[in-house]
Amino acid sequence: MLKNIPFVDLKLQHQPLKAELENSIQEVLERGDFILGQAVEKLESSFPTVCGVKNGVGVGCGTDAIALGLQACGIGAGDEVILPANTFVATLIGVLQAGATPVLVDCNVETALIDLEAAQKAVTSKTKVILPVHLYGQMVSPSELKDFAEANNLIIFEDAAQAHLAEREGYCAGSIGTAAAFSFYPSKNLGSFGDGGMVVTRDSEIAKKIRTLRNYGAPRKYVHEIPGTNSRLDSIQAAILNVKLPYLKDWNSDRNQAAQKYDILLSPMKEKGIIPIKNLSGTGHIYHLYVIRVTDKSPINRDTLKEKLGMAGISTGIHYPIPCHLQPAYQNLGYKQGDFPNSESLSQEILSLPIYPVITEEQIHQVAETISQIIM
Ligand SMILES: Cc1ncc(COP(=O)(O)O)c(C=O)c1O
Repeated sequence: MLKNIPFVDLKLQHQPLKAELENSIQEVLERGDFILGQAVEKLESSFPTVCGVKNGVGVGCGTDAIALGLQACGIGAGDEVILPANTFVATLIGVLQAGATPVLVDCNVETALIDLEAAQKAVTSKTKVILPVHLYGQMVSPSELKDFAEANNLIIFEDAAQAHLAEREGYCAGSIGTAAAFSFYPSKNLGSFGDGGMVVTRDSEIAKKIRTLRNYGAPRKYVHEIPGTNSRLDSIQAAILNVKLPYLKDWNSDRNQAAQKYDILLSPMKEKGIIPIKNLSGTGHIYHLYVIRVTDKSPINRDTLKEKLGMAGISTGIHYPIPCHLQPAYQNLGYKQGDFPNSESLSQEILSLPIYPVITEEQIHQVAETISQIIM
């Protein structure tokens, strides 16, 4: 009897850490430092260090990390920020929250990452930032990004929400540019038990400004020097993340190995139109998601494959079914169907298969075998 396969399995992943997690939470309860306590300080020191930069500022979520991070970089009204159309809508929301003007561009259809040639065409005299999204856990090429930013005199602000400890060309996600945003949403490769996020940056002045922005704009209690907000990483969430961080490297490597198995098992299905999103970063890809394209060569479309996998007890996802420029809430930005053909076709083709550190070889075989049977 085949067992159901979940899309992610956080319960199983957390089981061996139960005692450590409970202790760490208990320590916060005993100290009572729930807001900006010791656990937050510890994570603000350790997480940026593993990313290869000096400063980290814990905030309420990844969206706020983008918004406050951009603001602290001096980005706001009148400044254009170039970002990909095929990302989670939070990237766009972060730019809008900062008060800047988002300029969407298309992606490469094989990697699903921002197309820097398209980005070049979108540069104007108002462009201040290139905001790459390291989608699915694969980094956008650091060397290409640096060349692009230098040629156009732009800041690089990374959306690394899906890329904790991803690597490419010797760079770790979060260390390419001026600053980077991470999310600790529970299902992320490093996830808390609620919302959380962090901005990492080499620049101590930017870090200082985010500390003020996240705390009502007050560097000292009741002295509000700049208009700010309330967006702080909870001590309890930080305590959980402090326990999980030492395991992250191994978890990422387990995900990468699972992806390699999928690659091998799915490769004979290429003629049937099943094509995994291209990995150009080898073991540096941390596979937050393992995404295949169900192209028009396939005998069935993506939605039918998803439905049939569901009937076979295999949960899948779509990241993302509607590109940012076609989201109803953002029609005022003036984009329309046809503006970003690669993002639009990917939104119809992509399917995310189950992947998590504790996924077994049998489960991967079961997923691949079931796909193979469905498309026969
Ligand atoms: C690419 C990307 N950017 C930004 C975010 C926003 O993070 P959060 O949900 O923590 O606000 C997420 C995650 O949800 C994401 O996947």
